[in-house]
Amino acid sequence: MKYVRMPIEIESPESIGYDMIECNLAESSVRDISFREMGVNLDTLVMAYGDHIGKPALRELIADPYQHIHTRDVLLTVGAAGALFIIQSSLLTSNDHLIVIRPNYATNIETPKAIGCAITYIDLEFDKNYELDITEIEKSLRPNTKLVSITTPQNPTGVSIEEEKIIALCKLAEKNNFFLLVDETYRDLSFVDPSALAASVSDHAISVSSVSKAYGIPGIRLGWIITRNTSLQYLFLAAKEQIHICNSVVDEEICYQYLLKKENYFYSIRQMVKNNFTVLENWMGTHKYLEWVKPSGGVVAFPRFKNEINIDVEKFYDKLFQEYKTYVGPGHWFEQSKRHFRLGFGWERENIFKKGIENIDRAIES
Ligand SMILES: Cc1ncc(COP(=O)(O)O)c(C=O)c1O
Repeated sequence: MKYVRMPIEIESPESIGYDMIECNLAESSVRDISFREMGVNLDTLVMAYGDHIGKPALRELIADPYQHIHTRDVLLTVGAAGALFIIQSSLLTSNDHLIVIRPNYATNIETPKAIGCAITYIDLEFDKNYELDITEIEKSLRPNTKLVSITTPQNPTGVSIEEEKIIALCKLAEKNNFFLLVDETYRDLSFVDPSALAASVSDHAISVSSVSKAYGIPGIRLGWIITRNTSLQYLFLAAKEQIHICNSVVDEEICYQYLLKKENYFYSIRQMVKNNFTVLENWMGTHKYLEWVKPSGGVVAFPRFKNEINIDVEKFYDKLFQEYKTYVGPGHWFEQSKRHFRLGFGWERENIFKKGIENIDRAIES
């Protein structure tokens, strides 16, 4: 493996320092909550190794909302990042071929690069509303295609893939014997009913998610892989055991107690996201310089400067950060042009969020 640090991590708010930023529009999750707010009690927890697959009661809670999915289909991982690493490093070698849809969350591109497999990128286009064309995937298949990797709702665009397409992709996977990796980390933040969980549609599909983005608790590093394919699950467990044996029992217990009563918190989380999204929609609706494809879920959008706008983007980002202490995610975090930037609308409270987008206007104007 050849590891390279990704710009999205080198330049992340936690790397440059949260105290440097007044309006944080670079985040891709809802606001983090404190341990005290969670009302969790760990007094009787024994500091032992945990169940290698993951705490059974927690896996049952995670499986519960989905049709055709059982506790045994869920493997707990260290965040969705850990899940993606386990899947990609277990399935791909330098002799295999991967098809990955861009733009995408950087790890879905960088880990396969580190493995050294052959990669075909399918670039979704702004001018086509980032719509996925399945025939493009079909045309790119090779005899050694092992994995096709998609994310829905997308990071950084917030665009979702429709259920018919997920089903069609599952059929394609079965027919051509590849696995379909669906990163569904933003699923619980869909604006409309999300499509069927990919892993519930086919045993060639693998769904990944975590509690980081929708619930504001990335500090416990708890994610999961769901697949009904038992030999795949066994392979992923082997990888997990070799990397870190099991999850932290502390993380598992906190996550379990939180998810048991998540509805107590989730309503206000969704309300805050909805309010900020309305502010963002109004702002984008009449914007002189920026255009976007409206997200259908998640907490990020990926606006761009209109083609006719002549702007020095380096100066824009510099001014926005140095002068207005406002931070967004430039396009190069996603191997895209810097005329795009990722704008997170789930993190800051409404007044600071409003100030942040006003600062974007000020930085453009100046
Ligand atoms: C699409 C997507 N997948 C996975 C992750 C990793 O999240 P975590 O490891 O915190 O669960 C992220 C984080 O930004 C993401 O946006």
